[in-house]
Amino acid sequence: MDLDQIKKAASLEELEKIRVSLLGKNGIITKRFKELKNLSNEEKKKVAKELNELKEKALELISQKKYELEEELLNMKLKSERIDVTLFNPKPTGAIHPISDTMNKIIDFFTKLNFSVETGPLVEDDFHNFEALNLPKYHPARDMQDTFYFKDGTLLRTHTSPVQIRTMLKQKPPIRMISPGAVFRRDYDLTHTPMFHQVEGLVVDEKGKVSFANLKFILESFLIHMFGDVKVRFRPSFFPFTEPSAEVDISCIFCKGEGCRVCSHTGWLEVLGCGVVDPNVFKAVGYENVSGYAFGLGVERFAMLLNRINDLRSMYEGDIRLMEQFK
Ligand code: DAH
Repeated sequence: MDLDQIKKAASLEELEKIRVSLLGKNGIITKRFKELKNLSNEEKKKVAKELNELKEKALELISQKKYELEEELLNMKLKSERIDVTLFNPKPTGAIHPISDTMNKIIDFFTKLNFSVETGPLVEDDFHNFEALNLPKYHPARDMQDTFYFKDGTLLRTHTSPVQIRTMLKQKPPIRMISPGAVFRRDYDLTHTPMFHQVEGLVVDEKGKVSFANLKFILESFLIHMFGDVKVRFRPSFFPFTEPSAEVDISCIFCKGEGCRVCSHTGWLEVLGCGVVDPNVFKAVGYENVSGYAFGLGVERFAMLLNRINDLRSMYEGDIRLMEQFK
């Protein structure tokens, strides 16, 4: 029997034909196995052994040849199909990521009202991220935020509020600022990722010049700018850095306040936190005779509501099918 023909096969199709002719249902080797029953016991043993060896050899040669032929085919393809990555594509291929888009809309609203845009480091220290924001060590409110710590005691900022502190230490009042940027918390589920984005806002002026009423007006205007025709509601809440504090809801943009799955049948969606700056914060930065208000919001929350995205994680998976929808 000629096993050499395997080595000479010129294509995968030819190789398959040879395999069938040897080992297929009616293949030469298969047939000879079937003929074993006509032999004497002694001969049967001897021939069966030979046949098994032959079969194994044939299988080995076939798999080796298959590998060679496949590799040849791949190399041929690689040679003939070339992509010129320098070719100019007149159609723009990208889209603005929903987070950037939402961030830009937020920044746009506040810069038009003369707010400055401030930034701060992502790796913060305890003083700016907690202590100066009226969150002393061992204060239970620190548990509101699950923090990533480094060995030297520094940390990944858990909110953009430390930029309030940095800006007040660097400038004199009056201050009217927002601070957009990435923040980090140990969290991962449908609505939380370990990195997300916030925008912080702070307004400080001479005592008596800014009040909760100003805060309310600015935030109502802002939310209507972002979401259109919505009702806005302020609910008493707690934040260490503000007193009084409030959480702000908008009427559900999906059911118009009727109650649906997204708003847990309450008719309201919580969208930000705010309040009048706590005197202890001003004390920490050495400000006297001032008053102010602050607010903080999660950009992902806004982006998800505005674009009807229900799994936050999908925005960070880099799946081109998501981005295609934003062209
Ligand atoms: N820093 C808060 C957080 O990350 C958000 C916040 C709430 C900021 C109220 C504020 C504020 O400035 O007044 O949850």
